[in-house]
Amino acid sequence: MAEQFQIDDTSEIITPALIVFREVLEENIDKMIVIAGDLSRLRPHCKTHKMREVIELELARGITKYKAATFAEAEMLAEAGVQDIFLAYSLVGPNIARAVRFRETYPDVALAVTADHEKPIAALSAAMIEANQTIDVLLDIDTGQHRTGIPPGEVAAQLYGQIVEAAGLNPGGLHLYDGQNHQTDLEERREAVTACWESVAALRDELVGKGYSVPRVVAGGTGSFPIFASIDDPTIECSPGTCVFNDVGYGAMFPDMQFTPAARLLTRVISRPTADRVTVDLGYKAVASDPPAGKRLGFPDLPDAKEVLQNEEHLVLETSRACEFEPGDELLAVPRHICPTSAMHKQATIVAGGKIVGSWSIAARDRKLTI
Ligand SMILES: Cc1ncc(COP(=O)(O)O)c(C=O)c1O
Repeated sequence: MAEQFQIDDTSEIITPALIVFREVLEENIDKMIVIAGDLSRLRPHCKTHKMREVIELELARGITKYKAATFAEAEMLAEAGVQDIFLAYSLVGPNIARAVRFRETYPDVALAVTADHEKPIAALSAAMIEANQTIDVLLDIDTGQHRTGIPPGEVAAQLYGQIVEAAGLNPGGLHLYDGQNHQTDLEERREAVTACWESVAALRDELVGKGYSVPRVVAGGTGSFPIFASIDDPTIECSPGTCVFNDVGYGAMFPDMQFTPAARLLTRVISRPTADRVTVDLGYKAVASDPPAGKRLGFPDLPDAKEVLQNEEHLVLETSRACEFEPGDELLAVPRHICPTSAMHKQATIVAGGKIVGSWSIAARDRKLTI
């Protein structure tokens, strides 16, 4: 096993366990800052880890702005001392009242949200007027992922105008998440990301031409991060999430990125049912099962392992090296998709210098903390 992933004493670790190798995490954070080039252009997404202690490591390095996907994440950020939070989610239902409660609970925190439709914009404005509060709203732009947002164009300009006019709302700029840009070839990815940027920059220029304030364009995730970071436009804020932990999926998809998986799963062999199979305690209640069965994990120390069956608490691996294993033996696995994996664990065991140095709570895994 690579030295940086040694754990001197695992006897107290109940498996399956999420392990965060702190030095590797810190190296990833430092690499992220280098790519951003300037801390003011960095607005990392906290959804990957949902841990206050990761935020504290980043705050200590001067990162000040964050992206979140849920109110629980936003609350975790505010409790950690973050003063500039962008909840990149369009608010409906009880989340409108939660925005008011958030503003009242954390009056010194700048909170921004997204919108892409006139109805929530009007509802948010009415709620803010009634509470005598204000909130920043970024118009969510669809550049081809077709998940949320609207394409750059006339309707987008009208909606932005609605945000500008609405009492209780401040125009916060534009948001684009280009999750469709996962081209493995960097030049192909650059071309696609640049095309997304150009369409959004044209909309931005049009809005500015109408006299509207467009203070920022929050753009992208990990794959498009180096490309957005290289664009010379002071309003761009990059919002990578996954790269601080990284995973097997992004390792394969973005070979140009030098991030190392920092969060791994410790698992133990519980059975060796046949000569070519070992069964470990790593079912799909401990690792994200959005990647297809058979492709949910990587085993750096058992590269020929094939995931042939996974149940809730069992993972059966086929390997030519099965005879080397006995029940109780341990393996470290790297999830294909770390973000939902970390949310499946209540705590992470923290390892530094080969020693267990703590346990961090996955604080924002719940939908609701207090607000
Ligand atoms: C809106 C938004 N922004 C940023 C990110 C971060 O992207 P990545 O996980 O590629 O770093 C995500 C990821 O899902 C997202 O949904």
